[in-house]
Amino acid sequence: MRRRHLLEIHEQPWCPQAVRDGATDCLRLIAVIGRQFQGALPPLRRALALSGAQRIIDLGSGGGGPWLALRTQLQTQEGAPVPITLTDLFPNQQALQAARAKAPAQIDFVGSSVDATNVPEALQGLRTLFTTFHHFDPPVAQAILQDAVSAGQGIAIFEQTRRTRAAQAFMAILAPIAFLAVPLIRPFRWSRLFWTYVLPAIPAVLFFDGVVSCWRTYTEPELRSMIDGLLIDAEHGPAYVWEIGRAHTLLSPLGISYLIGYPAPSDRTPRGAHDIVS
Ligand SMILES: C[S@@+](CC[C@H](N)C(=O)[O-])C[C@H]1O[C@@H](n2cnc3c(N)ncnc32)[C@H](O)[C@@H]1O
Repeated sequence: MRRRHLLEIHEQPWCPQAVRDGATDCLRLIAVIGRQFQGALPPLRRALALSGAQRIIDLGSGGGGPWLALRTQLQTQEGAPVPITLTDLFPNQQALQAARAKAPAQIDFVGSSVDATNVPEALQGLRTLFTTFHHFDPPVAQAILQDAVSAGQGIAIFEQTRRTRAAQAFMAILAPIAFLAVPLIRPFRWSRLFWTYVLPAIPAVLFFDGVVSCWRTYTEPELRSMIDGLLIDAEHGPAYVWEIGRAHTLLSPLGISYLIGYPAPSDRTPRGAHDIVS
């Protein structure tokens, strides 16, 4: 399938905030209950260890994504809590405050807008993007990788969609899940019920955006060519080690696709070269 950069409704400025937040809240609940990203832990831990990061800077966090579940699993495996900073171009303040309230010693958020293509220097740590990378067209996606490389920060990207017809058909499951999940989302909001049971915009947006997300998801060869196009020199950044792979998940036959990258140890990889492991 050819990549199509179609519009997702929830990212449009005209999409009502309650619908956008309701959709990302649903994704967060699905991720937490379904332990959707458990399979992401091994590559995530590798990226954390090999980049030497002491903190996770999550970009495009939406409603907090998988972090409420993942942070405890990560803590158990690491033997200590890893601090996590949630950020977004359009921060969902209420959801981010709720996420922080659940784990104030571990989760923090940036209340102002953080653009993944131009992350402030003060935000040092392993950059993560969950279910977000496909939102960006190729030049912007490449700019996100380049910004991480130029800042010398590790990056770990996880996607739960794939560019196949079967994956698009599988997205139909999101609408019924939204009808079941919405009453369980906290903090409670009447607007979420309205936009689900009176005007079912949240289930419709989840299904529509899910199908479009599959069309926008990058394939492994496309990721490789993005990596090959990165500027690696004294001015733009060090050589990186890149790993592309797919992890299994319990509930979704699509699995989790990932791309991780971190500065190459200088004694292993000559400047300007890439290691790619699949
Ligand atoms: C599908 S949501 C993913 C939310 C969350 N990571 C999750 O797993 O549920 C994509 C998020 O990316 C954010 N976003 C869009 N463009 C961005 C940019 N240039 N920089 C940072 N975040 C961006 C949107 O506001 C939205 O919250």
